[in-house]
Amino acid sequence: MILILLGPPGAGKGTQAKLLASELRVPHISTGDMFRDHKARGTELGKTVDAIMASGGLVPDDVTNAMVKDRLARPDVGGGFILDGYPRTAAQAAYLDQLLVAMGRKLDRAVSYEIAQELLVDRMSGRRSCPKCGAVYHVTANPPRQAGTCDREGTPLVQRDDDKAETVARRLTEYEAKTAPLKRYYSEQGSLSEVPGTGTPDQVLATALRVLGRTR
Ligand code: AP5
Ligand code: MG
Repeated sequence: MILILLGPPGAGKGTQAKLLASELRVPHISTGDMFRDHKARGTELGKTVDAIMASGGLVPDDVTNAMVKDRLARPDVGGGFILDGYPRTAAQAAYLDQLLVAMGRKLDRAVSYEIAQELLVDRMSGRRSCPKCGAVYHVTANPPRQAGTCDREGTPLVQRDDDKAETVARRLTEYEAKTAPLKRYYSEQGSLSEVPGTGTPDQVLATALRVLGRTR
């Protein structure tokens, strides 16, 4: 199954992508995680995107598209894949359409997680993640067993650089201007499903699986 996950920053795309990837047994491809991995490894790409991400802006389309093209050339996508945080602009959506045609593949669904803006700020400011395994927690909604420590790795959890209040505001503005219009794009293609992003992660997952015609 080939899925795109849409939704504003903090909507729960990463959380849901991990759950869906495990249910559907397909890889989770997050462009945000890929950029953060480049930054952590200090690659040229990481240095290019560092300041853009810290400001809450979007990485240029050509850079992002090239990275996704490389990723989708890997053999593990044969059984399908979940794109989290890509496409994010009209140009990226058009590029992905062409790429899928070239691969002889077809998008199954674009799932958009719907959530009120007031909740997003709390979700982002309370988010903590493990620098080692990437597990994502929330200080109150999804806390680790021991405060500030990853359940799996025992590593101290960190806060994302772009989860500061002023950066969050810019990310939300970018989303409204450039990414929210993609809902219409996929709706016109007949591929959009809107899923409430509220409730527990498991409830959100259950709704998405129902929409996708899957039972657990
Ligand atoms: P990216 O990493 O994609 O960030 P984002 O879209 O801003 O989304 P987030 O990761 O902040 O939120 P999420 O929806 O994944 O929520 P999560 O599951 O973590 O992108 C970062 C940057 O990279 C961009 O700003 C841009 O610079 C660049 N970039 C990336 N892709 C790009 C592209 N295609 N083009 C150009 N630039 C690009 O959940 C949030 C919190 O809520 C967590 O604490 C979680 O535990 C909690 N939570 C989740 N679900 C629930 C629930 N049901 N109930 C309560 N709490 C919940
Ligand atoms: Mg994410």
